[in-house]
Amino acid sequence: SDTPLALTPPMGWNNWAHYMCDIDEAKVVANAEALVSSGLAAKGYDTVTVDDCWMRRERDARGDLVADPVKFPHGMAWLGEHLHAKGLKFGIYEDAGSLTCERYPGSGAPEGGGPDHYARDARLFASWNVDYVKMDGCNLWVPPGKTKEEAYRDAYNAVARALRDSGRPMVLSASAPAYFQQGEWGGADWHKVLDWVGETGQLWREGKDIKVYKASAPRTSRWSSVLGNYGYNRWLGRYAAPGNWNDPDFLIAGAPGLTDAESRSQVGLWAMMAAPFILSSDVSALSPGGLAALGNTRLIALDQDPLGRQGAVVSSSPAFEVLARPLANGDRAVAVLNRSGTDRDVSVPLAGIGLPAPCVVDAEDLWTGKRTETGDALTGRVAAHDTAVWRLTPRGCAEAVPTGQINGL
Ligand code: GLA
Ligand code: GLA
Repeated sequence: SDTPLALTPPMGWNNWAHYMCDIDEAKVVANAEALVSSGLAAKGYDTVTVDDCWMRRERDARGDLVADPVKFPHGMAWLGEHLHAKGLKFGIYEDAGSLTCERYPGSGAPEGGGPDHYARDARLFASWNVDYVKMDGCNLWVPPGKTKEEAYRDAYNAVARALRDSGRPMVLSASAPAYFQQGEWGGADWHKVLDWVGETGQLWREGKDIKVYKASAPRTSRWSSVLGNYGYNRWLGRYAAPGNWNDPDFLIAGAPGLTDAESRSQVGLWAMMAAPFILSSDVSALSPGGLAALGNTRLIALDQDPLGRQGAVVSSSPAFEVLARPLANGDRAVAVLNRSGTDRDVSVPLAGIGLPAPCVVDAEDLWTGKRTETGDALTGRVAAHDTAVWRLTPRGCAEAVPTGQINGL
């Protein structure tokens, strides 16, 4: 089908970073309910995805995947219906290789070769009224004579074709680039994969998993993981466009491990990067500060801006990083991350974000909604690990400022 999918970054919830394999129908249903009762669903967080470990270890006699009858007693068609009745969408996890990362049956060819199950699984998902498929890339067999990059390209092209041929529009979250990330910035193959992955899926994971919740882990490990995923994703703006999103993995804002400032930073940075807004937490237990950040409609509108351009780093120092992003109505968003351990004053000259002088802007602090007017610089105090985010509406500029004209964009 040719239905345009994910023209803005997908939003919703996935169990993985909080529950991992300890997932069942009751937990999915409870989190879906919490999305609705918290108001997050109405603000756009509407796609509920069941990650790995939902299925039995063996396919049935026909070759179909089977939901684990203990974890999902009513089955997946029922779950889809239940979510749809709440106004939500239904997402499911599979793997383009022979086995999922947790070694449940994958969709791909077995190790050593043989038929894949892409068409069969896509038909099954369509019959369950699935709306979104997260297709991971563990255990993918590389046939002799092919490079790893060719094997992933063939597999994800086949997955995309199978989903299209199923007749049901389903968003495809691809994982191919994540299996090529090398070192901090990625190698040549990583960029090769990023060059074609957007022809297969509407979003793609390109690097490490956000740190999963563990009560015993050091408090700072999840913040480091947020900064690490921001660190590789911030350079990938050239690959983003409506229907094509870089996915630096789940939002854990408001979940154990992040302070309110750190939660705001993740929401702010992810919004600047037009990243998917997919929570992975116990939604009923989000901290009030985290919930406020996630539910801030100004930040959500920034993430979901219809121009679909990812923001870029415009300046960087040991303490600060400044990002700018052009928006559909000609506004610009600017964010300042304070990654240092102390509260600091910042001043960002308008010239540094590509606005011609003289130019006066109406600057809206997106966290508070407070507006100020400035002709030279954005100023403010940014707490340790926090991120300030402004939306700038140029007024009375010497020359018109065409959309998209920001340094480096
Ligand atoms: C990989 C993915 C995670 C999650 C697990 C499930 O690690 O990156 O998001 O889906 O597999 O096993
Ligand atoms: C280098 C390049 C950036 C970006 C990153 C990530 O740093 O200069 O443009 O591509 O690698 O790959």
